[in-house]
Amino acid sequence: MSPRSRSIEEGRRGKKREAGDEAKAVDEGAIHPKYENIEDIPGVGPATASKLMEMGYATVESLATAAVNELVMAGMTDKAATRIISLARDATEVRFVPASEILARRANIQKLTTGSKSLDDLIGGGLETMTITEFYGEFGTGKSQICHQLCINVQLPPGKGGLGGNALYIDTENSFRPERIMQMARKTGLDPQKVVSNIVVAEAYNSDHQILILEKADQVIKSNNVKLIVVDSLMGHFRSEYLGRGALAARQQKLNSHLHRLERLTIAFNAAAVVTNQVMAKPDDFFGFGAYPVGGHIVGHRSHSRIFLRKAAGGRGNRVARLIVSLDRPEGECIFRIAEEGISDAEEEK
Ligand SMILES: Nc1ncnc2c1ncn2[C@@H]1O[C@H](COP(=O)(O)OP(=O)(O)OP(=O)(O)O)[C@@H](O)[C@H]1O
Ligand SMILES: [Mg+2]
Repeated sequence: MSPRSRSIEEGRRGKKREAGDEAKAVDEGAIHPKYENIEDIPGVGPATASKLMEMGYATVESLATAAVNELVMAGMTDKAATRIISLARDATEVRFVPASEILARRANIQKLTTGSKSLDDLIGGGLETMTITEFYGEFGTGKSQICHQLCINVQLPPGKGGLGGNALYIDTENSFRPERIMQMARKTGLDPQKVVSNIVVAEAYNSDHQILILEKADQVIKSNNVKLIVVDSLMGHFRSEYLGRGALAARQQKLNSHLHRLERLTIAFNAAAVVTNQVMAKPDDFFGFGAYPVGGHIVGHRSHSRIFLRKAAGGRGNRVARLIVSLDRPEGECIFRIAEEGISDAEEEK
């Protein structure tokens, strides 16, 4: 091997090691069971797994807290049930950390501007890093427009509301439009051509592909200095592929680990994540708007801020954003605007 090719080879190996270290950091970033899914537990075959899921045991954590007689009712022997529960308990890591450790981690949180001061104020100064923010609403309410704007804003320096990094856009519905990015970028003073080339796009063809993209994303995130991960939309594929009540538990299990992965990436890379979600009409109206987000509790628990969007009366590109769930902010509403140059505050009434 020539000295030159040797050094390239060593360089590659060095790179590999770095990427491995990063993956380790992702794993260490959060509670990480040895078994990702219940089928991974030795002794849980496909038939047992589907029986357990039907009974509502969709995650390793839920099995860790199950009672033996409940599993016996599912047709398992006493011995098998005891064994499976014990394996699930061993696999479920429980970490006790001093609150000061969490405080130190949170000191690194940065904020990313949406382009509208009122919307930023509503959510506490912009989208937080190490956190998943969810925008949900009917079609045309501006979910994808916000995602596009964030992909530009993340490239601004921190002093200007950005994170000085790039974006990864996971596109599940063919929503990404580079032309729109260039149009919006003009107002920011950044070079539109450069802005487009700093966005990495991954098109997801189905929910498994979507999951895989995120599983493989850590190297792309690191080598492209990605500080914003967009999943637009989060639920589109899951919703069309897992039909009927029988498929619900399996869907929620996959969704849970997908979101868990996203959360770990945001922590490991101090990045922001934004997911979009459609709504379903709901006659008994939980939120009082006649609509609620697809995906149920799992998305709600994993996304730390949930913002409901709707069109404002009077048109002019105005939208109403309502903060529905936030760990540390009161509920509230604001109006912002979608225009040719992007997301901004709504114009004052003349
Ligand atoms: N160039 C533009 N200038 C002004 N407004 C625009 C422009 N492009 C898009 N919009 C506005 O954004 C709307 C589309 O919003 P967007 O694509 O973000 O919807 P969405 O919430 O993602 O919907 P879906 O659920 O279908 O994905 C348009 O109806 C229009 O009001
Ligand atoms: Mg959209």
